[in-house]
Amino acid sequence: MHPKELVTSTFRQRFGKEPAFVALAPGRVNILGEHVDFNDGFVLPAAIDRATYIAFAPAASQRSTLVAADFGEEASFTLASIPTKTNADGAPLAEWAYYPAGVAWALTEADLAVPAIDAVFASNVPQGSGLSSSASIEMAFAVAWQTLSAVEGTGWVLPPMQRALLGQKAENKYVGVNCGIMDQFASACGVADKLLLLDCRSLEWQTLPVPEDVAIVIADTSVRRKLTDGEYNKRRQACEDAVKILSQHLPNVRALRDVSVDDFNRLSDQLPGVVEKRARHVVEEIERSRRAIPLLEQGKIREFGQIMNECHASLRDLYEVSIPELNVMVEIAQSLPGCLGARLTGAGFGGCTANLVEKSVAEAFATELATQYERKTGLKPEIYICKASDGARLM
Ligand code: GLA
Repeated sequence: MHPKELVTSTFRQRFGKEPAFVALAPGRVNILGEHVDFNDGFVLPAAIDRATYIAFAPAASQRSTLVAADFGEEASFTLASIPTKTNADGAPLAEWAYYPAGVAWALTEADLAVPAIDAVFASNVPQGSGLSSSASIEMAFAVAWQTLSAVEGTGWVLPPMQRALLGQKAENKYVGVNCGIMDQFASACGVADKLLLLDCRSLEWQTLPVPEDVAIVIADTSVRRKLTDGEYNKRRQACEDAVKILSQHLPNVRALRDVSVDDFNRLSDQLPGVVEKRARHVVEEIERSRRAIPLLEQGKIREFGQIMNECHASLRDLYEVSIPELNVMVEIAQSLPGCLGARLTGAGFGGCTANLVEKSVAEAFATELATQYERKTGLKPEIYICKASDGARLM
């Protein structure tokens, strides 16, 4: 069942009434600029045509009841119980509930009303697949609470980027993942048929067209990861360590964004081995995105794709967030006709690859990639041609 139907029918069953509203917030695929958002770099994601859907209505009491239709589970909390990650009865919240509870917490911190909600949500963004299922849950709930605040007359309306920042705060301070802004941004601000170019320092952004004859193909290795595992936070810590050391030599350095490749090469022996590798990925990835964007604008999509391939090698060898299955998926893709560029997308450690493919052969590419991947790994992948989509909204 499509999640939109699932949330509506589950809402009726659980709450014995019609949902007042249905909203959705998409996942995202990132095309270039990986693990650079928290280093003030540039990212180039797109919101995808898979989303978290939420059916909701104001609750009758102070207690919010959240149903995760995909898991057949529910959680309930009142505002008072949010910061301790417990249900209204004191039992621990399930992990999936951290994301909406975190958003409620972040809204409260910002002095914005969080009306009690009856909500059912479900998603066709696979969890742990590098497509930002958690950001899509956060942004769906942010739209839901914003909608209810208007209904209850305590109205607040935030621009999408502000909702994204609150989602990031929820993730950083409540869930405990030190992520950057990219995922919530893409989910909140997505534009149909466009790539989104975000400067993660100034938060200025613009759209770039997906070239007419190019398809974005997402290939899911079917291997799942957990972002909360700590590896992500360790990588971020290494970047911060590098900034601390490099800024002793380059006083204007606030983030790895401020370090040129030449300066980095000159000073790299000051950094401990692992820190050097992680930071080198970031410094070079930011330089790659500076080179790549004009190529995209000029329609030089082959050269652009080549840079995506370089990005994958760097994530594999320097940043070390790839896994064998992602490498196999990328190697096969890069060997197939019509493939312009292929790399892992998102945090890594499992999940999906992003591929730019000539549209005319995209179907054949997807079929052949699936066949060869399954032959080599014994795993059944899911491969689909994705359509860049609008961001979080009421339906
Ligand atoms: C995760 C994080 C993002 C970003 C990517 C890697 O998706 O949530 O902020 O850092 O990893 O680019």
